[in-house]
Amino acid sequence: SPSDPDLVARARAAKEKLGDKVFILGHHYQRDEVIEFADVTGDSFKLAKDAAAKPEAEYIVFCGVHFMAESADILTSDDQKVVLPDLAAGCSMADMATAEQVAECWDVLTEAGVAGATVPVSYMNSSADIKAFTGKHGGTICTSSNAKKALEWAFEQGEKVLFLPDQHLGRNTAVRDMGMSLDDCVLYNPHKPNGGLTTQQLRDAKMILWRGHCSVHGRFSVDSVNDVRERIPGVNVLVHPECKHEVVAAADHVGSTEYIIKTLEAAPAGSKWAIGTELNLVRRLANRFAPEGKEVVFLDKTVCFCSTMNRIDLPHLVWTLESLAEGNLVNRIQVDKETESFAKLALERMLSLP
Ligand code: 13P
Ligand code: SF4
Repeated sequence: SPSDPDLVARARAAKEKLGDKVFILGHHYQRDEVIEFADVTGDSFKLAKDAAAKPEAEYIVFCGVHFMAESADILTSDDQKVVLPDLAAGCSMADMATAEQVAECWDVLTEAGVAGATVPVSYMNSSADIKAFTGKHGGTICTSSNAKKALEWAFEQGEKVLFLPDQHLGRNTAVRDMGMSLDDCVLYNPHKPNGGLTTQQLRDAKMILWRGHCSVHGRFSVDSVNDVRERIPGVNVLVHPECKHEVVAAADHVGSTEYIIKTLEAAPAGSKWAIGTELNLVRRLANRFAPEGKEVVFLDKTVCFCSTMNRIDLPHLVWTLESLAEGNLVNRIQVDKETESFAKLALERMLSLP
């Protein structure tokens, strides 16, 4: 639906008043009405780099979710203020690994005698606490666009990886990109004693996967893939690596949001694509590529938006920009110094991966 013209005008006026003082980042899953005001758009890896590349902006308005804003705060200078237009824009996956649970897991690995050989690799979709844990224990952060490089690096440092918090990205990368088998992976359940694993299982595993997942991508199924292939002959199925392993195995291509966009840009006219990722992005891509004769459909009509990404809407953006323009710093995301220093180690390790 078209945006309220009054709100559009107010957002424009406030942004203009702020000028170079504000830099607006928009994740690919954001609503159209918000993306319209983004100075840059990207996947979480690109946005982390973009945030760090704008030292002259006093305010970084992050249209995305909480862990992304935290990462931007960690990577930007102390006098830059990172603002999240709605503080309730979290991520259910990031919430599946708390600092206490991860500390307990490390104790379990220590008891089993494997902690010394284990390198933590944490997905960007995690809290600053988890990133700090990762930095403290010699690990790295990864995103869906560099998970393979991160695992290659980690296996040069140690024999095992503790992959947090997305089991699917961890498993998909290990099996699809690193040639491991499903048997090389075990699932650590933070709600069970010892993660639900025996000492022997921990000793034998190469990949210890945290039992977290994305509630949006977790809903795509092999049935969705089979159905779309039946409905649209010749369709290419392209999914995000947060999808389950069997869905990724049934798909033709897998990659981050940025990869999905690049793939469609390079696709020939007349090609047909079913995309398994968040709906705002798929809709935008369908509209963008239709005039070029590329058909883009959503992989499964029963899967819906990421509800927390969607919390950032035009009214929240207007309120944020107008507040900042009036000198009123709202919704600042600020990671404490101690957490920041360790989390930064892990993030910078990611940024320096080859
Ligand atoms: P990208 O890293 O592909 O942007 O995906 C991130 C994501 O799912 C955000 O939740
Ligand atoms: Fe988190 Fe999934 Fe939403 Fe991404 S799409 S922010 S992983 S809940």
